[in-house]
Amino acid sequence: MKRQNAFFEALGVDATNSKEVTRLAVISGISVKKLRYYNEHHLMPSGTELEKIIETTNVTKLKLMLKLGCVDHNVAGMLSEHADEIITLFEKEKKQTKAKKRLQPVFETNLGKLYHGNCIEVLMQMPSNSVDMVFADPPFNLNKLYPSNINDDLKAEQYLDWCEDWIDECVRVLKFGGAFLLWNLPKWNSALSNFLNDRLTFRHWIATDIKYRLPIKGRLYPAHYSLLYYINGDKPKTFHPDRLPMQVCPKCSGDLKDYGGYKAKMNPAGVNMSDIWIDIPPVRHNKYKRREGANELSLKLLDRIVEMSTDEGDIVFDPFGGSGTTYMASELKKRKWIGCEIGPVDDIVNRFDHINEEREILNNYRDNLNSLFPKQILKKREKEGLWTCESVRSKAALKMSTTTYTENSIPQLAKTK
Ligand SMILES: C[S@@+](CC[C@H](N)C(=O)[O-])C[C@H]1O[C@@H](n2cnc3c(N)ncnc32)[C@H](O)[C@@H]1O
Repeated sequence: MKRQNAFFEALGVDATNSKEVTRLAVISGISVKKLRYYNEHHLMPSGTELEKIIETTNVTKLKLMLKLGCVDHNVAGMLSEHADEIITLFEKEKKQTKAKKRLQPVFETNLGKLYHGNCIEVLMQMPSNSVDMVFADPPFNLNKLYPSNINDDLKAEQYLDWCEDWIDECVRVLKFGGAFLLWNLPKWNSALSNFLNDRLTFRHWIATDIKYRLPIKGRLYPAHYSLLYYINGDKPKTFHPDRLPMQVCPKCSGDLKDYGGYKAKMNPAGVNMSDIWIDIPPVRHNKYKRREGANELSLKLLDRIVEMSTDEGDIVFDPFGGSGTTYMASELKKRKWIGCEIGPVDDIVNRFDHINEEREILNNYRDNLNSLFPKQILKKREKEGLWTCESVRSKAALKMSTTTYTENSIPQLAKTK
């Protein structure tokens, strides 16, 4: 964890002594409010403010960076050069955390095991490089009330430190070629990608269009969740994204865009999946909710992720069970799974009593994949006389067979002979 008041400490100022802080503000010409802001957020001042601090205090830019834990490539290079000396200092201080007791699963299926407990403890008892995919949907630190009563209102740095701890363990248990997918708010994922970039290979930032808040004054309307997608190693062991249906008008099934001459080139198996997902429903309706209260993801999302990044028989790990969407998707798709939840697990266990309903929901989603026009849409389009892959292709074939070359087109060939 970053040390509290590291900014003031670096400048030799006692953060609790307002006279000392005010004095620093006067000599540096930077307001108390701004100084406290830097201190609280562990931010490096920049531009003229950094120059003023360097001029008016004894501190150097390097000292400030080291004290604040702001590591750029120069500092990283220096740390790496002096690693042996640092390790000696560090090992004296670091307390080794050990798993307390071996947890036993509280629920099992033929394919899965569910643990009731803290994910870090569960992770610590898992062997290295043992899972093919990790999907994580942690609490977002938005001060929500979870059935587990966990503290969802940590200071930003405490939250990020906690995330780094469990991500580090997730990376350890991931097989080479395995995928790590992290679902979070853009604010947290942008910070966590720094940590991940040093450990795994970045593949995608997938923006999933779901509005999750009311518009905020002075800000853009937050309308996407971030799904970070990383690989352990340089290439994925498995990558088979579904192809999606073409977007059509929900009422008349007509085109939303003018495809012009490209119609014939469109793949009847569907459109390539992009890194913007606009077809994932939020789970708001009670009919689909598997537990009261806090966030639950759609089976459609987990179906897509599991399909894209794993094969049948692979092992999926999700450290934050919630209502068990990942476990249900994995079970239905014949993947092995390991799960855990710190709060009550009854909703997850009970969900498996309704596995046939879940299978039906999943099959309904899958019926609409890997074809440009799923059955229902195709029927409607044919009825309305709109183009279909079949109609475009037969028209093109007809054109080819009835084309009579004019005198102007043949001479070109003739000339070259
Ligand atoms: C956002 S929810 C996950 C929702 C889940 N993806 C779903 O679709 O239902 C996060 C869950 O993580 C659980 N949790 C929080 N801290 C945990 C920890 N340290 N270990 C295990 N579970 C934890 C919370 O109780 C909550 O149920």
